[in-house]
Amino acid sequence: MEKIEAVLKEERVFQPSEDFRQAARIRRLEDYEALYRESLQEPEKFWSRVASELHWFKPWDKVLEWNPPNAKWFIGGQLNLSYNCLDRHLATRGNKAAIIFEGEPGDSRILTYQQLHREVSKFANVLKGLGVRKGDRVTIYLPMIPEAAIAMLACVRIGAVHSVVFGGFSASALADRINDAQAKVLITADGGWRRGNVVPLKVNSDEALADAKSVEQVVVVRRTGHEVPMERGRDHWYHELMASASPDCPPEPMDAEDPLFILYTSGSTGKPKGVLHTTGGYSVYTYLTAQYIFDLKESDTYFCTADVGWITGHSYVVYGLLQNGATTLMYEGAPNTPDEGRIWSIIEKYSVSILYTAPTAIRAFMKWGEQWPLKYNLSSLRLLGSVGEPINPEAWFWYYKVIGKERCPIVDTWWQTETGGIMITTLPGVHPMKPGHAGKPFFGVQPEIVDTSGQPVNNPDEGGHLIIQKPWPSMLRTVWGDPERFERQYFSQYPGNYFTGDGARRDEDGYYLILGRVDDVLNVSGHRLGTMEVESALVSHPAVAEAAVVGRPDPIKGEGIVAFVTLKTGFSPSAELAQELKAHVVKAIGAIARPDEIRLTDALPKTRSGKIMRRLLRQVASGEEIKGDTSTLEDRGVVERLKSTPAQ
Ligand code: WTA
Repeated sequence: MEKIEAVLKEERVFQPSEDFRQAARIRRLEDYEALYRESLQEPEKFWSRVASELHWFKPWDKVLEWNPPNAKWFIGGQLNLSYNCLDRHLATRGNKAAIIFEGEPGDSRILTYQQLHREVSKFANVLKGLGVRKGDRVTIYLPMIPEAAIAMLACVRIGAVHSVVFGGFSASALADRINDAQAKVLITADGGWRRGNVVPLKVNSDEALADAKSVEQVVVVRRTGHEVPMERGRDHWYHELMASASPDCPPEPMDAEDPLFILYTSGSTGKPKGVLHTTGGYSVYTYLTAQYIFDLKESDTYFCTADVGWITGHSYVVYGLLQNGATTLMYEGAPNTPDEGRIWSIIEKYSVSILYTAPTAIRAFMKWGEQWPLKYNLSSLRLLGSVGEPINPEAWFWYYKVIGKERCPIVDTWWQTETGGIMITTLPGVHPMKPGHAGKPFFGVQPEIVDTSGQPVNNPDEGGHLIIQKPWPSMLRTVWGDPERFERQYFSQYPGNYFTGDGARRDEDGYYLILGRVDDVLNVSGHRLGTMEVESALVSHPAVAEAAVVGRPDPIKGEGIVAFVTLKTGFSPSAELAQELKAHVVKAIGAIARPDEIRLTDALPKTRSGKIMRRLLRQVASGEEIKGDTSTLEDRGVVERLKSTPAQ
């Protein structure tokens, strides 16, 4: 196999402080090891014990049934995730803050568990009133405001399956996702605030609904207060429906394997996949991971900067945290509005104790300079987390020193939309940290590194494909509407094992270092984008004949997008056309997919069998020397011509 170069040799090791260790939930390596062993050898015993900390209407008969690729967890059990997030805490934490909200313009709101329970119950009744029944799909297209969490929990309460679509996606991406899920109701807002501008969510929704006919009713949250068109009979204001809703809504007992939510993510083909998670396993796994990995204490204030439109927002803004009765902070806007100190000012204002963010954000903070965090009192922080892409050691050190003052452990958490919860990380009170290494498998997770023939790679300097050998409770159950794709995508390469799509290597201490995607998926600012998705968007433009998209290392975003495009006859390359194509991609997918660079060329490098040689394109895109075999190229001159085409 083509070996994955081990890109990083980082030898320094950092210990959690003695103070942190002393107070941690798990503080001895032997305890981690004993629990880990038990979780693999006696998964029934381990997971039963965890699951019984939650509320079940009916206990499960059997913990696990595994017929690869199909796993069933807590079979026969009945529960409701909104009950475990809300009702379960009312007696002991009714007046504790569940959600602290900070809006971009500076407005703020605090919802206690009791208030959140009331809002969720009312909105659940609103949804019922709009005809939503158990099993129906509801699409949520909202900014990072409490109503996003309320809408998610309200769906869960009545057994409706939510599909949250990130507010940064375009109308056309929203329409695709509504159509795929055949959602009956759409919940959106007039707009959201982003860098002082209004994100036109309702306008986008209207445009999407012209092509998405399954939606019968639309609920609109008033957030920005600007004028938006409302269609009679279809569109309803949230606050008007809520005014008369009853606060009494008993949660629907759900079977452990009943669908919980769908979340779309990019794969190596053009069409996003609807990753389906189910109720029991997802609840149990996010509950336990949040508790141990963030070492949650009753007094913590936890701030995750992810949007609820991503899996991190689902598992570690909302569900994992609320199930633990924690206080979770939601921030609506950009990290540099009104200035580059915003995140640090929020931490000071609310005495945040745990911060969970992404390497791309950390690299932006570094660029803005340490004068911003130094202006604020960050002494409330006790634990830091990173997620979404490999963290480069420079960013790790900066985070550790400037933000954590060498006092706060960092958990570098590797996981995916499909895994539902964190899979590989250090436990903050137990494991020494190695910058750039995610760390050890969490309980119940059995990773392996294999070569393309499926043989384990045991040499610590050699990379391979990262697979997971056993099912874990929050494993995706299928791709919505496409079980065949589920099997092909995740279980066909290494039958019986889950293939992550990532490359990794494992050192002498059993620490995993993630090398990044090995498939055609880009990681731009911690967001997954399929090269095919961007290519399909480009090819849908009338001037484009063919497009090939590759990633290129980017100091802030991790990866930038470079598109090589050939034009149809009758069109000639120009800077204006390149700009138009970028705008076209933004319209088709959203601003996160905007190519950084477009090269309008007369031909793409292909093999004689017609396959585009992406390896060469990646080298051209990053300005590297062209290495490796080019003898299979059909037209040898094409590479030279590509190098000389202007980047626009
Ligand atoms: C990457 C985000 C290195 C990885 C939770 C994975 C990471 C993809 C890390 C999933 C990490 C996530 N270190 N790489 N700590 N966390 N990744 O589905 O390539 O949006 O496959 O889930 O992000 O992205 P997704």
